[in-house]
Amino acid sequence: MDTVARRPKKGEEVEVVVETIDRRGRALGETGGHPMALPRGLPGDKLRARVTRRRRKELYGVPLEVLERSPDHVQARCSHAKSCGGCRFQDLAYEAQLELLRGHISQALAEAFVPHGGVDPVIACPEPWGYRNKMELSFGAIRWVEEEEPEGVERDFALGFHAPGRFDRVLDVSECHLLFEGGIELVRSARALARELELSAWNQHTHEGCLRHLVLRRGVHTEETLAYLVTSRVGADVDEFLARFAELHPELTTLVHGVNAGVADVAKAEERRVIKGEGWITERLHGVEFRISPESFFQTNTLQAERLFEVVLEEACARGAELVHDLYCGAGSISLLLARSVGRVTGFELSEEAVADAVENARRNQITNAEFVAGDLAETIAGVSERPDVLVCDPPRSGMHERVVERLIELSPARIVHVSCNAHAAARDLARLVHNGYELVRARPVDLFPHTPHVECVFTLERSSS
Ligand SMILES: C[S@@+](CC[C@H](N)C(=O)[O-])C[C@H]1O[C@@H](n2cnc3c(N)ncnc32)[C@H](O)[C@@H]1O
Repeated sequence: MDTVARRPKKGEEVEVVVETIDRRGRALGETGGHPMALPRGLPGDKLRARVTRRRRKELYGVPLEVLERSPDHVQARCSHAKSCGGCRFQDLAYEAQLELLRGHISQALAEAFVPHGGVDPVIACPEPWGYRNKMELSFGAIRWVEEEEPEGVERDFALGFHAPGRFDRVLDVSECHLLFEGGIELVRSARALARELELSAWNQHTHEGCLRHLVLRRGVHTEETLAYLVTSRVGADVDEFLARFAELHPELTTLVHGVNAGVADVAKAEERRVIKGEGWITERLHGVEFRISPESFFQTNTLQAERLFEVVLEEACARGAELVHDLYCGAGSISLLLARSVGRVTGFELSEEAVADAVENARRNQITNAEFVAGDLAETIAGVSERPDVLVCDPPRSGMHERVVERLIELSPARIVHVSCNAHAAARDLARLVHNGYELVRARPVDLFPHTPHVECVFTLERSSS
Protein backbone atom coordinates (compact mmCIF):
# COMPACT_ATOMS: atom_id res chain seq x y z
CA MET A 1 0.00 0.00 0.00
CA ASP A 2 1.36 3.48 -0.92
CA THR A 3 2.02 5.68 2.05
CA VAL A 4 1.71 9.45 1.99
CA ALA A 5 4.62 11.12 3.76
CA ARG A 6 4.28 14.11 6.08
CA ARG A 7 3.49 17.29 4.14
CA PRO A 8 6.77 19.24 3.75
CA LYS A 9 7.01 22.74 5.23
CA LYS A 10 7.89 25.97 3.44
CA GLY A 11 11.67 26.20 2.94
CA GLU A 12 12.16 22.43 3.19
CA GLU A 13 14.13 20.58 0.50
CA VAL A 14 12.42 17.62 -1.16
CA GLU A 15 12.78 15.18 -4.05
CA VAL A 16 10.14 15.61 -6.77
CA VAL A 17 9.33 13.41 -9.73
CA VAL A 18 7.88 15.48 -12.58
CA GLU A 19 4.95 13.83 -14.36
CA THR A 20 3.82 16.41 -16.90
CA ILE A 21 3.83 20.08 -17.90
CA ASP A 22 0.52 21.92 -17.82
CA ARG A 23 -0.82 24.36 -20.40
CA ARG A 24 0.73 27.28 -18.51
CA GLY A 25 4.16 25.64 -18.74
CA ARG A 26 4.29 24.56 -15.06
CA ALA A 27 5.98 21.24 -14.26
CA LEU A 28 3.61 19.09 -12.21
CA GLY A 29 4.88 16.25 -10.08
CA GLU A 30 4.69 14.75 -6.65
CA THR A 31 6.82 14.45 -3.57
CA GLY A 32 5.98 11.81 -0.96
CA GLY A 33 2.46 11.55 -2.37
CA HIS A 34 1.86 15.34 -2.34
CA PRO A 35 1.27 17.18 -5.65
CA MET A 36 3.81 19.87 -6.40
CA ALA A 37 4.14 22.54 -9.13
CA LEU A 38 7.44 24.03 -10.30
CA PRO A 39 8.33 26.68 -12.89
CA ARG A 40 10.86 24.36 -14.60
CA GLY A 41 11.32 20.62 -15.11
CA LEU A 42 10.45 18.01 -17.73
CA PRO A 43 8.21 14.93 -17.57
CA GLY A 44 10.46 12.15 -16.20
CA ASP A 45 12.87 14.47 -14.34
CA LYS A 46 13.71 13.69 -10.73
CA LEU A 47 14.58 16.98 -9.04
CA ARG A 48 15.79 18.28 -5.70
CA ALA A 49 13.58 21.29 -4.99
CA ARG A 50 12.77 23.79 -2.27
CA VAL A 51 9.18 24.32 -1.15
CA THR A 52 8.32 27.99 -1.56
CA ARG A 53 4.54 27.95 -0.90
CA ARG A 54 1.96 25.60 0.51
CA ARG A 55 -1.56 25.74 -0.86
CA ARG A 56 -4.42 23.43 0.00
CA LYS A 57 -4.30 21.56 -3.31
CA GLU A 58 -0.60 21.67 -4.10
CA LEU A 59 2.86 22.66 -2.99
CA TYR A 60 4.92 25.14 -4.99
CA GLY A 61 8.66 24.93 -5.30
CA VAL A 62 11.79 25.90 -7.18
CA PRO A 63 14.14 23.28 -8.61
CA LEU A 64 17.64 23.25 -7.11
CA GLU A 65 19.29 20.29 -8.82
CA VAL A 66 18.49 17.65 -11.42
CA LEU A 67 18.98 14.23 -9.82
CA GLU A 68 17.83 12.20 -12.83
CA ARG A 69 17.24 13.54 -16.31
CA SER A 70 14.09 12.94 -18.31
CA PRO A 71 14.74 10.54 -21.23
CA ASP A 72 13.25 13.26 -23.46
CA HIS A 73 15.76 15.90 -22.35
CA VAL A 74 17.81 17.64 -25.06
CA GLN A 75 20.36 20.43 -24.80
CA ALA A 76 18.74 23.90 -24.78
CA ARG A 77 20.01 26.12 -27.61
CA CYS A 78 19.69 29.51 -25.99
CA SER A 79 21.87 31.00 -23.26
CA HIS A 80 18.75 32.77 -21.89
CA ALA A 81 16.77 29.50 -21.62
CA LYS A 82 16.67 29.49 -17.80
CA SER A 83 15.57 33.12 -17.35
CA CYS A 84 13.49 33.94 -20.42
CA GLY A 85 10.61 31.48 -20.34
CA GLY A 86 9.69 32.35 -23.94
CA CYS A 87 10.71 28.84 -25.07
CA ARG A 88 9.61 26.82 -22.08
CA PHE A 89 10.03 23.52 -23.94
CA GLN A 90 13.34 24.09 -25.70
CA ASP A 91 15.12 21.39 -23.69
CA LEU A 92 12.36 18.85 -24.41
CA ALA A 93 12.66 16.69 -27.56
CA TYR A 94 10.35 18.05 -30.26
CA GLU A 95 8.39 14.78 -30.63
CA ALA A 96 7.70 14.83 -26.87
CA GLN A 97 6.54 18.47 -27.13
CA LEU A 98 3.99 17.48 -29.77
CA GLU A 99 2.60 14.65 -27.63
CA LEU A 100 2.34 16.99 -24.65
CA LEU A 101 0.42 19.59 -26.69
CA ARG A 102 -1.95 16.96 -28.03
CA GLY A 103 -2.55 15.84 -24.42
CA HIS A 104 -3.38 19.43 -23.39
CA ILE A 105 -6.10 19.58 -26.06
CA SER A 106 -7.60 16.20 -25.04
CA GLN A 107 -7.55 17.30 -21.41
CA ALA A 108 -9.27 20.62 -22.17
CA LEU A 109 -12.05 18.78 -24.06
CA ALA A 110 -12.42 16.21 -21.26
CA GLU A 111 -12.62 18.91 -18.57
CA ALA A 112 -15.38 20.70 -20.50
CA PHE A 113 -17.22 17.38 -21.13
CA VAL A 114 -17.03 17.73 -24.91
CA PRO A 115 -17.54 14.31 -26.53
CA HIS A 116 -15.21 13.62 -29.45
CA GLY A 117 -13.58 10.78 -31.36
CA GLY A 118 -9.98 11.69 -30.46
CA VAL A 119 -7.54 14.47 -31.23
CA ASP A 120 -5.41 14.01 -34.37
CA PRO A 121 -1.60 13.98 -34.04
CA VAL A 122 -0.19 17.52 -34.05
CA ILE A 123 1.07 18.65 -37.47
CA ALA A 124 4.74 19.39 -36.72
CA CYS A 125 6.57 22.51 -37.82
CA PRO A 126 9.18 21.36 -40.40
CA GLU A 127 11.63 24.06 -39.21
CA PRO A 128 11.06 24.56 -35.49
CA TRP A 129 13.68 27.34 -35.11
CA GLY A 130 13.78 30.89 -36.52
CA TYR A 131 10.09 30.62 -37.39
CA ARG A 132 8.78 33.86 -35.88
CA ASN A 133 8.05 36.55 -38.47
CA LYS A 134 7.29 39.06 -35.69
CA MET A 135 8.91 39.93 -32.41
CA GLU A 136 7.81 42.60 -29.98
CA LEU A 137 10.69 43.68 -27.73
CA SER A 138 10.53 45.98 -24.74
CA PHE A 139 13.01 48.57 -23.55
CA GLY A 140 13.31 48.62 -19.77
CA ALA A 141 15.08 50.83 -17.22
CA ILE A 142 15.33 47.92 -14.77
CA ARG A 143 17.33 45.05 -16.17
CA TRP A 144 16.61 41.50 -15.05
CA VAL A 145 20.09 40.29 -14.14
CA GLU A 146 20.55 36.60 -14.98
CA GLU A 147 22.28 34.15 -12.64
CA GLU A 148 25.32 33.65 -14.83
CA GLU A 149 25.86 37.32 -15.73
CA PRO A 150 29.18 38.90 -14.70
CA GLU A 151 29.40 41.33 -11.78
CA GLY A 152 29.00 44.99 -12.71
CA VAL A 153 26.68 44.40 -15.66
CA GLU A 154 24.73 47.55 -16.61
CA ARG A 155 21.43 47.51 -14.69
CA ASP A 156 19.51 50.52 -15.92
CA PHE A 157 19.01 49.59 -19.57
CA ALA A 158 17.74 46.48 -21.30
CA LEU A 159 16.17 45.58 -24.63
CA GLY A 160 14.43 42.22 -24.74
CA PHE A 161 11.52 40.47 -23.07
CA HIS A 162 9.84 40.88 -19.71
CA ALA A 163 11.21 38.39 -17.19
CA PRO A 164 8.49 35.82 -16.38
CA GLY A 165 5.98 37.27 -13.95
CA ARG A 166 7.83 40.63 -13.79
CA PHE A 167 6.03 43.56 -15.41
CA ASP A 168 8.88 45.91 -14.51
CA ARG A 169 12.03 43.90 -15.33
CA VAL A 170 13.38 43.29 -18.80
CA LEU A 171 15.75 40.53 -19.77
CA ASP A 172 18.41 41.91 -22.12
CA VAL A 173 18.51 39.47 -25.04
CA SER A 174 21.64 38.83 -27.03
CA GLU A 175 20.23 35.81 -28.85
CA CYS A 176 16.81 34.43 -29.75
CA HIS A 177 16.42 31.27 -31.75
CA LEU A 178 12.76 31.84 -32.59
CA LEU A 179 13.26 35.17 -34.33
CA PHE A 180 13.62 35.31 -38.14
CA GLU A 181 17.13 35.25 -39.56
CA GLY A 182 18.82 38.64 -39.29
CA GLY A 183 16.39 39.85 -36.60
CA ILE A 184 18.79 39.61 -33.67
CA GLU A 185 21.31 41.82 -35.50
CA LEU A 186 18.62 44.54 -35.61
CA VAL A 187 18.08 44.14 -31.86
CA ARG A 188 21.78 44.34 -31.05
CA SER A 189 22.25 47.35 -33.26
CA ALA A 190 19.21 49.19 -31.79
CA ARG A 191 20.63 48.63 -28.29
CA ALA A 192 24.12 49.87 -29.23
CA LEU A 193 22.71 52.95 -30.95
CA ALA A 194 20.43 53.80 -28.03
CA ARG A 195 23.39 53.62 -25.63
CA GLU A 196 25.58 55.71 -27.93
CA LEU A 197 22.90 58.42 -28.18
CA GLU A 198 22.19 58.14 -24.43
CA LEU A 199 18.49 57.55 -24.94
CA SER A 200 16.88 56.30 -21.74
CA ALA A 201 14.62 53.24 -21.46
CA TRP A 202 11.05 53.31 -20.12
CA ASN A 203 10.67 52.76 -16.38
CA GLN A 204 7.48 50.87 -15.47
CA HIS A 205 7.38 52.38 -11.96
CA THR A 206 8.06 56.06 -12.62
CA HIS A 207 6.62 56.10 -16.17
CA GLU A 208 9.64 58.01 -17.33
CA GLY A 209 12.16 57.23 -20.05
CA CYS A 210 12.06 57.59 -23.81
CA LEU A 211 12.36 54.20 -25.55
CA ARG A 212 9.43 51.77 -25.08
CA HIS A 213 9.16 49.09 -27.75
CA LEU A 214 10.82 47.77 -30.85
CA VAL A 215 8.65 45.62 -33.11
CA LEU A 216 10.24 43.66 -35.94
CA ARG A 217 8.25 41.99 -38.72
CA ARG A 218 9.33 39.98 -41.72
CA GLY A 219 7.62 38.90 -44.90
CA VAL A 220 9.10 35.41 -45.27
CA HIS A 221 8.07 34.94 -48.91
CA THR A 222 8.66 38.57 -49.92
CA GLU A 223 11.88 39.15 -47.89
CA GLU A 224 10.54 42.52 -46.71
CA THR A 225 11.39 43.72 -43.20
CA LEU A 226 9.65 46.26 -40.99
CA ALA A 227 10.94 47.92 -37.82
CA TYR A 228 8.57 49.89 -35.62
CA LEU A 229 9.98 51.98 -32.79
CA VAL A 230 7.62 53.18 -30.06
CA THR A 231 8.83 55.99 -27.80
CA SER A 232 7.13 58.06 -25.11
CA ARG A 233 7.95 61.35 -26.83
CA VAL A 234 9.33 62.97 -29.96
CA GLY A 235 12.64 64.84 -30.08
CA ALA A 236 15.80 65.50 -32.08
CA ASP A 237 17.53 62.59 -30.31
CA VAL A 238 14.74 60.20 -31.38
CA ASP A 239 14.97 61.52 -34.94
CA GLU A 240 18.71 60.93 -34.93
CA PHE A 241 18.18 57.37 -33.70
CA LEU A 242 15.72 56.70 -36.51
CA ALA A 243 17.88 58.25 -39.23
CA ARG A 244 20.99 56.36 -38.09
CA PHE A 245 19.08 53.07 -37.68
CA ALA A 246 17.71 53.32 -41.24
CA GLU A 247 21.19 54.11 -42.54
CA LEU A 248 22.76 51.18 -40.67
CA HIS A 249 20.14 48.76 -42.00
CA PRO A 250 19.45 49.17 -45.70
CA GLU A 251 17.74 45.75 -45.49
CA LEU A 252 14.82 47.47 -43.68
CA THR A 253 12.08 47.89 -46.26
CA THR A 254 10.18 50.19 -43.96
CA LEU A 255 10.75 52.00 -40.66
CA VAL A 256 7.89 53.46 -38.63
CA HIS A 257 7.89 55.59 -35.49
CA GLY A 258 5.04 55.77 -32.99
CA VAL A 259 4.50 57.79 -29.82
CA ASN A 260 2.80 56.27 -26.79
CA ALA A 261 2.82 58.52 -23.74
CA GLY A 262 0.22 56.45 -21.84
CA VAL A 263 0.95 54.08 -18.97
CA ALA A 264 -0.34 50.89 -20.63
CA ASP A 265 2.57 48.67 -21.61
CA VAL A 266 1.55 47.96 -25.20
CA ALA A 267 3.38 48.47 -28.47
CA LYS A 268 0.63 50.74 -29.75
CA ALA A 269 0.86 54.40 -30.57
CA GLU A 270 -1.50 57.36 -30.49
CA GLU A 271 0.38 58.80 -33.45
CA ARG A 272 2.52 57.14 -36.09
CA ARG A 273 4.80 58.46 -38.83
CA VAL A 274 6.60 56.64 -41.58
CA ILE A 275 10.35 57.26 -41.64
CA LYS A 276 11.20 54.99 -44.56
CA GLY A 277 9.24 52.98 -47.13
CA GLU A 278 5.49 52.43 -47.25
CA GLY A 279 4.79 51.96 -43.53
CA TRP A 280 3.84 48.31 -44.01
CA ILE A 281 5.24 45.12 -45.52
CA THR A 282 3.63 42.46 -47.64
CA GLU A 283 3.50 38.69 -47.24
CA ARG A 284 2.07 35.96 -49.42
CA LEU A 285 0.07 32.98 -48.20
CA HIS A 286 -0.81 30.40 -50.84
CA GLY A 287 -0.29 33.02 -53.51
CA VAL A 288 -2.59 35.64 -51.93
CA GLU A 289 -0.77 38.85 -51.02
CA PHE A 290 -1.35 40.50 -47.63
CA ARG A 291 -0.43 43.96 -46.37
CA ILE A 292 0.85 43.89 -42.80
CA SER A 293 0.78 47.14 -40.82
CA PRO A 294 2.96 47.67 -37.73
CA GLU A 295 0.17 46.93 -35.24
CA SER A 296 -2.20 44.60 -37.09
CA PHE A 297 -2.60 40.89 -36.35
CA PHE A 298 -0.89 38.44 -38.65
CA GLN A 299 -0.04 34.81 -37.88
CA THR A 300 3.52 34.81 -36.50
CA ASN A 301 4.72 31.65 -38.26
CA THR A 302 4.24 32.15 -42.00
CA LEU A 303 5.01 28.64 -43.26
CA GLN A 304 2.91 26.91 -40.60
CA ALA A 305 0.12 29.46 -41.09
CA GLU A 306 -0.09 28.10 -44.63
CA ARG A 307 -0.44 24.56 -43.19
CA LEU A 308 -3.05 25.81 -40.70
CA PHE A 309 -5.09 27.50 -43.42
CA GLU A 310 -4.89 24.40 -45.62
CA VAL A 311 -6.48 22.47 -42.75
CA VAL A 312 -9.12 25.20 -42.29
CA LEU A 313 -9.99 25.13 -46.00
CA GLU A 314 -10.18 21.33 -46.01
CA GLU A 315 -12.39 21.28 -42.92
CA ALA A 316 -14.64 24.09 -44.18
CA CYS A 317 -15.55 21.94 -47.25
CA ALA A 318 -16.83 25.22 -48.59
CA ARG A 319 -16.19 24.82 -52.31
CA GLY A 320 -19.32 26.05 -54.06
CA ALA A 321 -20.93 27.36 -50.84
CA GLU A 322 -23.00 30.50 -51.31
CA LEU A 323 -22.18 32.34 -48.12
CA VAL A 324 -19.35 31.93 -45.60
CA HIS A 325 -18.78 34.01 -42.47
CA ASP A 326 -15.27 34.45 -41.08
CA LEU A 327 -15.48 35.72 -37.49
CA TYR A 328 -12.41 37.43 -35.93
CA CYS A 329 -10.92 37.70 -39.42
CA GLY A 330 -7.91 39.98 -38.74
CA ALA A 331 -6.52 41.29 -42.02
CA GLY A 332 -8.68 38.78 -43.90
CA SER A 333 -6.30 35.86 -44.36
CA ILE A 334 -8.87 33.06 -44.07
CA SER A 335 -11.63 35.13 -45.76
CA LEU A 336 -9.55 35.84 -48.84
CA LEU A 337 -8.32 32.26 -49.19
CA LEU A 338 -11.92 31.05 -48.93
CA ALA A 339 -13.22 33.70 -51.32
CA ARG A 340 -11.50 31.97 -54.25
CA SER A 341 -13.87 29.00 -54.06
CA VAL A 342 -17.18 30.29 -52.66
CA GLY A 343 -19.96 32.71 -53.59
CA ARG A 344 -19.48 35.37 -50.89
CA VAL A 345 -17.45 35.79 -47.70
CA THR A 346 -18.11 38.27 -44.90
CA GLY A 347 -15.32 38.89 -42.41
CA PHE A 348 -15.90 40.40 -38.95
CA GLU A 349 -13.13 42.07 -37.00
CA LEU A 350 -12.70 44.49 -34.08
CA SER A 351 -9.65 46.41 -35.30
CA GLU A 352 -10.40 49.20 -37.80
CA GLU A 353 -6.81 49.01 -38.98
CA ALA A 354 -7.03 45.25 -39.64
CA VAL A 355 -10.28 45.79 -41.56
CA ALA A 356 -8.62 48.54 -43.64
CA ASP A 357 -5.84 46.03 -44.37
CA ALA A 358 -8.41 43.34 -45.24
CA VAL A 359 -10.19 45.67 -47.71
CA GLU A 360 -6.86 46.64 -49.26
CA ASN A 361 -5.83 42.97 -49.38
CA ALA A 362 -9.02 42.08 -51.26
CA ARG A 363 -8.40 44.95 -53.71
CA ARG A 364 -4.76 44.07 -54.42
CA ASN A 365 -5.71 40.43 -55.07
CA GLN A 366 -8.68 41.41 -57.29
CA ILE A 367 -11.06 39.62 -54.94
CA THR A 368 -14.49 41.18 -55.26
CA ASN A 369 -16.68 38.74 -53.33
CA ALA A 370 -15.37 39.49 -49.82
CA GLU A 371 -16.68 42.23 -47.53
CA PHE A 372 -15.65 43.18 -44.02
CA VAL A 373 -17.49 44.50 -40.97
CA ALA A 374 -15.51 46.43 -38.34
CA GLY A 375 -16.54 46.41 -34.68
CA ASP A 376 -16.80 44.30 -31.55
CA LEU A 377 -18.43 41.00 -32.53
CA ALA A 378 -20.38 41.00 -29.27
CA GLU A 379 -22.27 43.94 -30.91
CA THR A 380 -21.96 43.36 -34.65
CA ILE A 381 -23.14 39.74 -34.48
CA ALA A 382 -26.62 41.02 -33.64
CA GLY A 383 -26.84 42.52 -37.14
CA VAL A 384 -26.15 39.22 -38.87
CA SER A 385 -29.41 37.86 -40.22
CA GLU A 386 -28.42 35.58 -43.10
CA ARG A 387 -27.57 32.00 -42.19
CA PRO A 388 -24.14 31.15 -43.69
CA ASP A 389 -23.50 27.70 -45.18
CA VAL A 390 -20.21 27.54 -43.30
CA LEU A 391 -18.94 29.65 -40.44
CA VAL A 392 -15.26 29.94 -39.55
CA CYS A 393 -14.17 31.57 -36.31
CA ASP A 394 -10.68 32.28 -35.03
CA PRO A 395 -11.15 34.20 -31.76
CA PRO A 396 -8.41 35.69 -29.56
CA ARG A 397 -6.98 33.61 -26.67
CA SER A 398 -9.90 34.44 -24.41
CA GLY A 399 -12.37 32.73 -26.77
CA MET A 400 -15.75 33.99 -27.98
CA HIS A 401 -18.09 36.32 -26.15
CA GLU A 402 -21.16 34.42 -24.97
CA ARG A 403 -23.45 36.65 -27.06
CA VAL A 404 -21.49 35.55 -30.14
CA VAL A 405 -21.91 31.86 -29.25
CA GLU A 406 -25.65 32.41 -28.58
CA ARG A 407 -26.17 34.09 -31.96
CA LEU A 408 -24.16 31.41 -33.66
CA ILE A 409 -26.51 28.78 -32.25
CA GLU A 410 -29.49 30.80 -33.51
CA LEU A 411 -27.97 31.22 -36.98
CA SER A 412 -27.33 27.48 -37.00
CA PRO A 413 -24.88 27.03 -39.92
CA ALA A 414 -24.50 23.40 -41.01
CA ARG A 415 -20.76 23.52 -40.39
CA ILE A 416 -18.59 25.49 -37.98
CA VAL A 417 -14.81 25.50 -38.14
CA HIS A 418 -13.43 26.83 -34.88
CA VAL A 419 -9.72 27.74 -34.93
CA SER A 420 -8.12 28.33 -31.57
CA CYS A 421 -4.73 28.90 -29.98
CA ASN A 422 -6.21 28.23 -26.53
CA ALA A 423 -7.87 24.83 -26.27
CA HIS A 424 -9.15 25.62 -22.79
CA ALA A 425 -11.18 28.65 -23.94
CA ALA A 426 -12.19 26.82 -27.12
CA ALA A 427 -13.48 23.84 -25.11
CA ARG A 428 -15.82 26.18 -23.20
CA ASP A 429 -17.25 27.52 -26.51
CA LEU A 430 -17.44 24.00 -28.00
CA ALA A 431 -19.28 22.67 -24.94
CA ARG A 432 -22.06 25.22 -25.55
CA LEU A 433 -22.24 24.30 -29.20
CA VAL A 434 -22.41 20.54 -28.58
CA HIS A 435 -25.17 21.07 -26.03
CA ASN A 436 -27.09 22.96 -28.67
CA GLY A 437 -27.22 20.58 -31.59
CA TYR A 438 -23.63 20.34 -32.81
CA GLU A 439 -21.23 17.43 -32.89
CA LEU A 440 -17.46 17.81 -32.71
CA VAL A 441 -16.33 15.68 -35.64
CA ARG A 442 -12.62 16.42 -35.75
CA ALA A 443 -9.81 18.15 -33.85
CA ARG A 444 -6.67 18.82 -35.92
CA PRO A 445 -3.82 20.58 -34.10
CA VAL A 446 -1.06 22.43 -35.95
CA ASP A 447 2.12 23.53 -34.20
CA LEU A 448 2.73 27.18 -35.03
CA PHE A 449 4.73 27.92 -31.89
CA PRO A 450 7.42 25.22 -31.34
CA HIS A 451 9.12 25.21 -27.91
CA THR A 452 6.16 26.95 -26.26
CA PRO A 453 3.05 25.56 -24.52
CA HIS A 454 0.83 27.14 -27.21
CA VAL A 455 -0.73 25.22 -30.08
CA GLU A 456 -3.35 25.99 -32.72
CA CYS A 457 -6.20 23.56 -33.20
CA VAL A 458 -8.89 23.38 -35.87
CA PHE A 459 -12.13 22.00 -34.41
CA THR A 460 -14.82 20.99 -36.90
CA LEU A 461 -18.45 20.91 -35.82
CA GLU A 462 -21.42 19.67 -37.77
CA ARG A 463 -25.04 20.40 -36.97
CA SER A 464 -26.46 17.12 -35.77
CA SER A 465 -30.04 18.32 -35.37
CA SER A 466 -31.97 21.31 -36.73
C1 LIG B 1 -6.40 34.95 -33.49
S1 LIG B 1 -6.65 36.44 -34.39
C2 LIG B 1 -7.24 35.76 -35.90
C3 LIG B 1 -7.00 36.57 -37.14
C4 LIG B 1 -7.14 35.89 -38.49
N1 LIG B 1 -8.09 34.81 -38.52
C5 LIG B 1 -5.79 35.42 -38.99
O1 LIG B 1 -5.49 34.22 -38.95
O2 LIG B 1 -5.01 36.29 -39.44
C6 LIG B 1 -8.03 37.09 -33.58
C7 LIG B 1 -8.55 38.38 -34.15
O3 LIG B 1 -9.73 38.71 -33.40
C8 LIG B 1 -9.81 40.12 -33.29
N2 LIG B 1 -10.69 40.41 -32.16
C9 LIG B 1 -10.39 40.39 -30.84
N3 LIG B 1 -11.47 40.69 -30.10
C10 LIG B 1 -12.50 40.90 -30.97
C11 LIG B 1 -13.87 41.24 -30.81
N4 LIG B 1 -14.38 41.44 -29.61
N5 LIG B 1 -14.63 41.37 -31.91
C12 LIG B 1 -14.09 41.18 -33.14
N6 LIG B 1 -12.80 40.85 -33.36
C13 LIG B 1 -12.02 40.71 -32.29
C14 LIG B 1 -8.37 40.54 -33.12
O4 LIG B 1 -8.19 41.90 -33.46
C15 LIG B 1 -7.64 39.58 -34.05
O5 LIG B 1 -7.48 40.15 -35.33
